[in-house]
Amino acid sequence: MTSSASQSRGLAGRDAEARGYLLDNARAEAGVRFDALGSLFDPSTFRHIERLGIAPGRRCWEVGAGGTTVVDWLADRVGPDGRVVATDIDTSWAAGAASGVEVLRHDVGADEPPGDGFDLIHARLVLVHVTDRDRALAAMAGALRPGGWLLLEDADPAAQPLICLDEYGPEQALANKLRTGFRTLLAERGADLAYGRRLPRLLREAGLVDVAADAYFPITAPACDVLEAATVRHVRGRLLAAGLATEDEIERHLANVEAGRLDLATSPMISAWGRRP
Ligand SMILES: C[S@@+](CC[C@H](N)C(=O)[O-])C[C@H]1O[C@@H](n2cnc3c(N)ncnc32)[C@H](O)[C@@H]1O
Repeated sequence: MTSSASQSRGLAGRDAEARGYLLDNARAEAGVRFDALGSLFDPSTFRHIERLGIAPGRRCWEVGAGGTTVVDWLADRVGPDGRVVATDIDTSWAAGAASGVEVLRHDVGADEPPGDGFDLIHARLVLVHVTDRDRALAAMAGALRPGGWLLLEDADPAAQPLICLDEYGPEQALANKLRTGFRTLLAERGADLAYGRRLPRLLREAGLVDVAADAYFPITAPACDVLEAATVRHVRGRLLAAGLATEDEIERHLANVEAGRLDLATSPMISAWGRRP
């Protein structure tokens, strides 16, 4: 690479980083976050998938897979005659999936789907981060077989913005202040913080039928503390650079989280599903 090409790629990379996915998978905190997300949300996700139907031989596409817990569970359910495709813009963590899971680097907002005729397509906490989320949703709906289900799960932080519902003291107020800063960073990168509530309408507009949705969120759980500590460490530099928190506030908050007495919640996770007619 010439030095000018290298320089322009460097600039493009920094520009993409400034606009792109805030919680990039390249950092060690991403693995901790995936484990915590799995503890918090896998039971609800698996309940939804079981209700829609999962059986040997089914073909599934897990979009924005992140870690491996969902795809490993799907692979176990569909068995050797089924197919599980795990896609992500960064497959570093999904690469450790069970044998038989097809792991592909793929941008759901830009690339063609990795096949069609899927019985189940699932994306959790992905579309909210995708700039061209309308295109992504249309691509997923179009990759279903007739009768196949699309299950989309996305947070709706605007519906419930607090990380400490019971803001009874300065430690809880600080936690909520840092949460506001985190939401600001997400919004600056184009995340739609009220996306979860739109999912049922968007599924219908994509031509799907039998659309329904529900919501779930933990009020407090040990994995909420793990998720919060990893998230704050992940975005610490950006919070500081944007003037949304000071070093002292971040250190105090991390110590409070570590002490395990904040009763941290998450945003509501809205699960919405629809079937291709
Ligand atoms: C918050 S994580 C959620 C991971 C996993 N779905 C879960 O619920 O544990 C978001 C994931 O979406 C991926 N992602 C972000 N933008 C994407 C895009 N345009 N196409 C595919 N994956 C994307 C990220 O790399 C990351 O792995």
